[in-house]
Amino acid sequence: MTVKTIILAAGQGTRMRSAMPKVLHKVAKRSLLQHVYDTSKLIDDNEVLIIYGHGGELVKQTLSELDAQWIEQKQQLGTGHAVLQAESMIENEDTVLILYGDVPLLAKQSIDSLLANVSAQSMGLLTVVLENPTGYGRIVRDESGQVRKIVEQKDASDQQQLITEVNTGILALKGGQLKSWVSRLENNNAQQEFYLTDVIEMAVNDGIAIKTSHPETVDEVLGVNNRKQLSHLERVYQAGQADKLMEQGVTLLDPARVDCRGSFVSLGQDISVDINVIFEGKNSIGNNVNIGANTMINNSVIGDNVEILANCVIDNAVVGAGSRIGPFARLRPLAELAEQVHVGNFVEIKKATVAKGSKINHLSYIGDATIGSQVNIGAGTITCNYDGVNKFRTVIEDGAFIGSDTQLIAPVTVGKNATIGAGSTITKNTPDDQLTLTRSKQISIQSWQRPVKKEQ
Ligand code: UD1
Ligand code: CA
Repeated sequence: MTVKTIILAAGQGTRMRSAMPKVLHKVAKRSLLQHVYDTSKLIDDNEVLIIYGHGGELVKQTLSELDAQWIEQKQQLGTGHAVLQAESMIENEDTVLILYGDVPLLAKQSIDSLLANVSAQSMGLLTVVLENPTGYGRIVRDESGQVRKIVEQKDASDQQQLITEVNTGILALKGGQLKSWVSRLENNNAQQEFYLTDVIEMAVNDGIAIKTSHPETVDEVLGVNNRKQLSHLERVYQAGQADKLMEQGVTLLDPARVDCRGSFVSLGQDISVDINVIFEGKNSIGNNVNIGANTMINNSVIGDNVEILANCVIDNAVVGAGSRIGPFARLRPLAELAEQVHVGNFVEIKKATVAKGSKINHLSYIGDATIGSQVNIGAGTITCNYDGVNKFRTVIEDGAFIGSDTQLIAPVTVGKNATIGAGSTITKNTPDDQLTLTRSKQISIQSWQRPVKKEQ
């Protein structure tokens, strides 16, 4: 069974008060449309058709890597008119699934239940009962409980407005039937739009049964029309992510104060996460890892038994087993720490490898460097990697000891077990095992006197 998924995404979204098309707004750093697309991709043998419209070029450009057909709806004349634009791409035997580009949290399970209701004699409609149905199309059923039609809010009688079962807009049906009905839609209604919902009455008249199914939660079918609804869905999504983490054995000190804007490649046992931690991109975290408060981890690999203290930023980095990071440390892209490395407060590491057991505990910048094992880097050490035009590497070999406040002017190599005296500016390679320092001699002037204030 080939499923053609039509994602309606041509609406303008005026109530967002944004220069950006609505479907490009994000939940968990992924656009609304991307969420819908990703969910639809969970269906086997599925082809995606995206109906875009006003300002939609930007949507198409931004999401150009999606495996989808882009179909323009030049004028937004209604949901039925939107679907009509895809007519030539639908085969009679296809099963057509209609999704909305601004309804991001629909679950695969709800789609499955909808598709299960599609046959030559029946179609699937996703409905939900709302305490306050205002604004939605109402599901009109007959005495025997069979769906007869959908009436839009603006066309509904007072009696019909009391109905609390509403149309989510999400439905599935056979391609041949859809095509025969959408081509006959008319716009003689309150909004002078071509309503997709009118196909329900046509189906009933043609003897096709309307089989309804329902989402597990209302949040699944909520659309985004304004920033308040966007933030609501962000919180709903994050609550779901936190639940998943806890189900996988992660301790969250406060599930309401952790955000996952990506996914986990792997999660070890006994990970503990303090408050205000943000995960982005694809992360991999080992066993027995503690993550301190206010920390951001992006596209990184964290080994077993790692301690990340509060207020760290770890971005595209690798932290080896048994290492201790922070508080207030920043690991930038291509920082690769081996096992048992200590990185302390106000230390920034970029494009550098640090071998086993080395320590950089205070106030340092290590960039474009190769640091050996058991190296001790004193407070305030800076690798001067940039001459304003090019970048150069600093190599510090195993067992070296770099005194505090040292500048290493790259390219430069500090030899094995070398010691650098505090306050040095190292411009040439330093030999193994020796003390190297660049420091003017300390002098004291015996006869010196402090100046005194002149009388006016
Ligand atoms: C629609 C349904 C209503 C349902 C509600 C659920 C119709 C006539 N009504 O109403 O029964 O309760 O959704 O949210 O279908 N779109 C286009 N092109 C258009 C018009 C709309 O692509 O010309 C897209 C929008 O971008 C949006 C979706 O279709 O993603 C729904 O459009 P919207 O205007 O929000 O429909 P409603 O009036 O809310
Ligand atoms: Ca809507």
